[in-house]
Amino acid sequence: MLSVKNLTKKFGEFKAVNDLSMDIEKGKITLLIGPNGSGKTTMLNCITGLLDYGEGEVYFHGENVTKAKTHELVEKGMVRTFQISSPFTRLTVLENMLVSYGKNSGESFVYSPFNKKWIGEEKDAMEKAYRVLDLLEITNLADDPAYTLSGGQLKLLEMGRALMTDAKMILTDEPAGSVSVPLAEKIFSHITDLSRKDGIDFLLIEHRLDVVSQFIDQVVAMDRGSVIAQGPPKEVFEDLMVIESYLKVKK
Ligand SMILES: Nc1ncnc2c1ncn2[C@@H]1O[C@H](COP(=O)(O)OP(=O)(O)OP(=O)(O)O)[C@@H](O)[C@H]1O
Ligand SMILES: [Mg+2]
Repeated sequence: MLSVKNLTKKFGEFKAVNDLSMDIEKGKITLLIGPNGSGKTTMLNCITGLLDYGEGEVYFHGENVTKAKTHELVEKGMVRTFQISSPFTRLTVLENMLVSYGKNSGESFVYSPFNKKWIGEEKDAMEKAYRVLDLLEITNLADDPAYTLSGGQLKLLEMGRALMTDAKMILTDEPAGSVSVPLAEKIFSHITDLSRKDGIDFLLIEHRLDVVSQFIDQVVAMDRGSVIAQGPPKEVFEDLMVIESYLKVKK
């Protein structure tokens, strides 16, 4: 599904990601953990084309996507929520969903004169937007301007916009960051539904292990730029090195 081989990212002489290799299996929700500053965000930025890196290779569905550009990766179905996280605050929730829809021929110079084509697509976009809003239980917010949303509602909109892109895999940095535990659990349970029903894979970062652990299938643990353990949650959480570097810090 997603395979990273020997990735290194330096800031000056400092290796934020250090010879990192990992394999993310298809059909899974994978949790990425590690202490603050261990390189989680930097690694996500490298593999999603937001940061250039020195060495390493990335494969997505068996295809070599090393150093591919962000938009090329989105077309292949690898979507980072961060890249679409700031909504257009003056647009409504529904409008924000529609601008994230991949196929907007009406906006293209070539297709704009051919009404029939893009009117059909607009209908598809609208149907999809409502389906996703229903799924995330925020249909009632469709006509509200994005600037009126709470932190948790913005997180759901962010997820909704990622889903408008036909993503096969969503990589997300704290999808429930700074929201209350009940809402965080709701967001993760939506993620579980999407993974099971729509076959979307997730790689997510979340520090609150007690909140997220019931929803995940596998764990990748990082420390100082490298992967120190990966596998089923029980195995990784019991791994001594992980306990030393991460779990103890959290206590
Ligand atoms: N643009 C940059 N320039 C220099 N150093 C950077 C830059 N971005 C990140 N770093 C450093 O790289 C290391 C890894 O940072 P990163 O943000 O990837 O960690 P993280 O695991 O996501 O941490 P957190 O859990 O706090 O989000 C840190 O030491 C950080 O200070
Ligand atoms: Mg981070």
